[in-house]
Amino acid sequence: MVTVFGLGFVGLTTALGFAEMGHQVYGVEVNQERMNLIKSGRLPFLEPGLDEALTRHLGVNFHPCDDLSKAISKSDYIYYCVGTPYGEDGQADLTYLNLAMGQTLEAIHDDRFRVLVVKSTVPPSTTQNKVIPFLRERGWEPGERIGVANNPEFLREGYCWEDFIHADRIVLGVEDGRSEQMLRQLYEESAAPIICVTLNTGEFIKYLSNTLLATLISYSNEMSLIADTIGGIDTGHAFRVLHMDRRWQEGTMSSYAYPGCGYGGYCLPKDTNALYALTRDAGFDAPILKNVIATNDGMPAAIIRRIENVLGPEDSIGILGLSFKPGSDDVRDTPAAKIIGKLIDKGYKKIMAYDPVATTEFQLHYANLKIVYCTSQEELVERSDVLAIVTAWSEFKGLRERTEKPILDCRYIL
Ligand SMILES: NC(=O)c1ccc[n+]([C@@H]2O[C@H](COP(=O)([O-])OP(=O)(O)OC[C@H]3O[C@@H](n4cnc5c(N)ncnc54)[C@H](O)[C@@H]3O)[C@@H](O)[C@H]2O)c1
Repeated sequence: MVTVFGLGFVGLTTALGFAEMGHQVYGVEVNQERMNLIKSGRLPFLEPGLDEALTRHLGVNFHPCDDLSKAISKSDYIYYCVGTPYGEDGQADLTYLNLAMGQTLEAIHDDRFRVLVVKSTVPPSTTQNKVIPFLRERGWEPGERIGVANNPEFLREGYCWEDFIHADRIVLGVEDGRSEQMLRQLYEESAAPIICVTLNTGEFIKYLSNTLLATLISYSNEMSLIADTIGGIDTGHAFRVLHMDRRWQEGTMSSYAYPGCGYGGYCLPKDTNALYALTRDAGFDAPILKNVIATNDGMPAAIIRRIENVLGPEDSIGILGLSFKPGSDDVRDTPAAKIIGKLIDKGYKKIMAYDPVATTEFQLHYANLKIVYCTSQEELVERSDVLAIVTAWSEFKGLRERTEKPILDCRYIL
């Protein structure tokens, strides 16, 4: 049996994924609104495939549970999928993880061996230098009644279910034999290769992945600014020709080597910052990561400069797209919010926006941004003098055929 702490994108997918593999899974969640939705069989966010998995397993193999003691007492595996947001100076904030671990320890009242597994993204050395000391301070010696491991998650929002069920690899940071054996057993049904590494290596592999993606994006954005500076360059076309090189053609990696408005969402900004901050504080000021972050931080201002080339002070602007990427209603750290915020700061008053799925989420997250929300692309086009594509939704691709108004294609999709 498995208990999963945190039923967000990663936790709910993990819980349902283990349920699909035939395990009994308890899910615990502190956000009551989110929990109630899940209990009633509805997803708290847009995630294709996950809705059907919830319908299949709710009350069968997956049990949303308010009674933590019951869930822990029955479980052999405790998975932590809670948030690890930006902390002080960009470092990862482990408050939620510590709280969940503390709750776990308080709920254990027997001698059964349990393995505590961190699936949340935590910077390399966290399990070794923070989690294990945290447990020891409370009288729990890893290897005795509890094992400690990490199992980083590589899923992409919009493809959570597909990426979990057909994972490329399962990485286990684990250093004691008993926990390793238990974790291999847990994933017995999965066809993915299982790679067991040290605790630090497990965490490092996740940051290798996210910081490389962030670097590709910042590199592409810097190249788009170079192209702007030189002039006469069809930037989107140039990148698409770059992707014709067969080394870019297999898989979807080319979507990261493409310019846009800067990386956003929950993971790339905070993880790139956390790894940079951790190593900087340890004495190495990593120059590539530092500039990857600086380029990304500068992108909203660069987009505004492009917008101001065509937008008059009294003109109305229509923002197409609010989510951080197409196929998702996640608006955390979305470039759209930064761009709209900067337009407001500059005194533009007629700002309108439309997104196929993320408008409600955006309004909830950014209630301070006073703009007009349109309910269709047609309405936005009709009411705006200038249009800016900020999220690369495929439904925006035919925009040039639908209007002669100036369009800033900040995602190079037209
Ligand atoms: N979103 C992604 O694409 C993605 C991909 C890979 C890894 N990750 C990592 O996985 C972790 C979770 O990300 P997410 O996007 O699922 O976050 P999320 O914010 O969607 O979900 C986290 C959930 O944990 C809950 N929670 C916090 N403390 C709790 C506690 N003590 N008990 C029970 N529930 C608790 C929160 O209420 C929230 O619902 C982060 O570390 C993230 O970096 C995310």
